[in-house]
Amino acid sequence: MGLFSSIKEYAELAKLQSKLAKHFPSFAEQKKWLAKLKHIDANVKSAHNQSHILKFLIEILEMPDAVEGCIVEAGAFKGASTAKISLFAAYKKRKLHVFDSFEGLPPNTEMHEKSTEGHSIKGWFDKGNFAGSLDEVQKNVGKFGDASVVSYHKGWFENTMPLFKEKIALAYLDVDLASSTMTCLKYLFPLIEPGGAIVSQDGDFPLVIDVFKDENFWKNEVGCKEIPVIEGMGKKITIIRKK
Ligand SMILES: C[S@@+](CC[C@H](N)C(=O)[O-])C[C@H]1O[C@@H](n2cnc3c(N)ncnc32)[C@H](O)[C@@H]1O
Repeated sequence: MGLFSSIKEYAELAKLQSKLAKHFPSFAEQKKWLAKLKHIDANVKSAHNQSHILKFLIEILEMPDAVEGCIVEAGAFKGASTAKISLFAAYKKRKLHVFDSFEGLPPNTEMHEKSTEGHSIKGWFDKGNFAGSLDEVQKNVGKFGDASVVSYHKGWFENTMPLFKEKIALAYLDVDLASSTMTCLKYLFPLIEPGGAIVSQDGDFPLVIDVFKDENFWKNEVGCKEIPVIEGMGKKITIIRKK
């Protein structure tokens, strides 16, 4: 991470930690939760910044209990994000369903060039990149997360997601590809409960942004009357809320 990115990340984390303080008023409690996240970072290779995942973890804390449903994660890599999400899911007494091929990204012809922040992402999303086996993820979640709330759905999203029918309160997409994002939105958005949301951490990839803005896709593939409310269009973390 460059100096500018480090300063930005530090400032983001400071903002998010004050949000965390609303849920864990005692300093000791905040420290304990942040230490758990840092412990995972020290032990499991991941593809996220702490501030990015923390935004989703805070969404979990802030989701009213009245919004029914489980939490879904699409895109686990080695299970660092899975372990973190599982701890917060367990704290809020929600189940976590994890979808992944557990063999990395699928074959694709997507030509990604630069993120909205100007970073090159060329060649990042080739077939097989970001592979973590199911065994590896389960072991990491067992050691560092809360395995008691987690179920796994192994395979390509287009095969596993159509079989899933549970109510969802929150879903976290970290799937890199526009095609994978489309599959997730198509099958998961209809299962999101009113008041729930889908959080994408691929919101700074122009091809993914094209999907979010595609009115025909939302109407004809997802079955929405209109494009839903989308917060943070063009930003790393983009949130699609269900009214
Ligand atoms: C960037 S990695 C996830 C990183 C992880 N959330 C983390 O923070 O460390 C992307 C993941 O999406 C999965 N993936 C992407 N498209 C997929 C698809 N169509 N079907 C199944 N898995 C897919 C890959 O296997 C990979 O594990």
